[in-house]
Amino acid sequence: MNHKPVEGFSKLTKQGKIDWLVNEYLEGNEEYQNILNQYWNENTDLQKLHDEFSENTISNFYMPYGIAPNFLINGKLLALPMAVEESSVVAAASKAAKFWLDKGGFKTTIINTEKLGHTHFILKTEPHKLLHFFNFKLKKKLLEATEDITANMRKRGGGILDIKLIDKTAELEHYFQLKASFDTVDSMGANFINSCLEQFGKTLKEEVANEAEFSQKEKDSLQIVMNILSNYTPDCIVRAEVSCKIEDLKDDSGISNEEFAWKFKRAVTIAEIEPYRATTHNKGIMNGVDAVVIATGNDFRATEACAHAYAARNGKYSSLTHCTTDNGIFRFWIDLPISVGVVGGLTNLHPLVKFSLALLGKPSAQELMSILAVSGLAQNFGALRSLVTTGIQKGHMKMHLFNILNQFNATEEEKQYFVTYFKDKTVSHHEVISELEKLRNK
Ligand code: MEV
Repeated sequence: MNHKPVEGFSKLTKQGKIDWLVNEYLEGNEEYQNILNQYWNENTDLQKLHDEFSENTISNFYMPYGIAPNFLINGKLLALPMAVEESSVVAAASKAAKFWLDKGGFKTTIINTEKLGHTHFILKTEPHKLLHFFNFKLKKKLLEATEDITANMRKRGGGILDIKLIDKTAELEHYFQLKASFDTVDSMGANFINSCLEQFGKTLKEEVANEAEFSQKEKDSLQIVMNILSNYTPDCIVRAEVSCKIEDLKDDSGISNEEFAWKFKRAVTIAEIEPYRATTHNKGIMNGVDAVVIATGNDFRATEACAHAYAARNGKYSSLTHCTTDNGIFRFWIDLPISVGVVGGLTNLHPLVKFSLALLGKPSAQELMSILAVSGLAQNFGALRSLVTTGIQKGHMKMHLFNILNQFNATEEEKQYFVTYFKDKTVSHHEVISELEKLRNK
């Protein structure tokens, strides 16, 4: 069926939008209309707040919000809020947290907190001439021109850390950058950085136009291509680690501690050298990171982009975690570049985000970076532990059992039956269906 385009969709009321959609795309089916209404919040203030986060809202999209308790992080015991739809992520986190609880827990170190952004521009001039202009005139002007924008951030201890001129002409004709680094303290800082960069673009234009050293032809060649932060922040990075004596690495799968340590390390090595495996390995890490990123109102697309760019920084995509088993000590760690905020954005608006941050003891951005790296490391520990011992499906399918049963509208009694039935067995889709058929035909 060919659909008609719509004019002024954003101006329709919520009901108007729904009516149009259901009639145009869903043959007027009431069931779909009811789904939308069911997830609409009767609390009009809350709904209005939520609607204003985005545009053209017609309902809410719910995600499960779970808690992984018992995370000992730098000596502090935390319960992590996790917004995630994938069964077994919260369970894996909780299990890993408990495993490390009596072994000193997780330790973290903030390596650096520098954020980056660029003014990308084209100027048909000699690089050395531009560098001279930048060093002796432009840099000072850029800092002066952004003084108003940076005043509040400077009061909080942050601001512009440095600005460099980068010559990219070897890769693209006449292409240069103003590469600026920032400290945005407790905010993620995207708006602050972009505002500074847009001012850089304007000041650059004015200063080039007024510079006697440039010919008119050079001046006319200037094009400010774009001013934008980079989500790749390799120097906004935290390390999280766990370690213990190999003899203390009790594992309940039946293999010896030494064998477990060795198999675990080999699995990490495979992720270090093999991009196919590294992608899945890092995806598992981001299961843990993103769930807390979302629960704390941060931007998971940004954290994903940064983590994967970092994983490929040496020209070959590789593991974000590493493991050693030297001198009888098992050591497992992650270096995670991640830019997040605990003020600004949704942090003070979304009620559940407020709850998450309060639950975490109102962390600073650096503390949140640490918690996120720990969540990723714990998730990876849980995944690898299963993969090198029982296999992933045992735990995964156990958690997925209810999804399968719900697809078949199983009753509470049927669900209980299946929990007992699969107590000592790996759940399979096929077996659930055939057993359910037998049960219902009895
Ligand atoms: C599933 O979401 C994540 C895992 O595949 C991660 C991994 O293989 O390491 C279990």
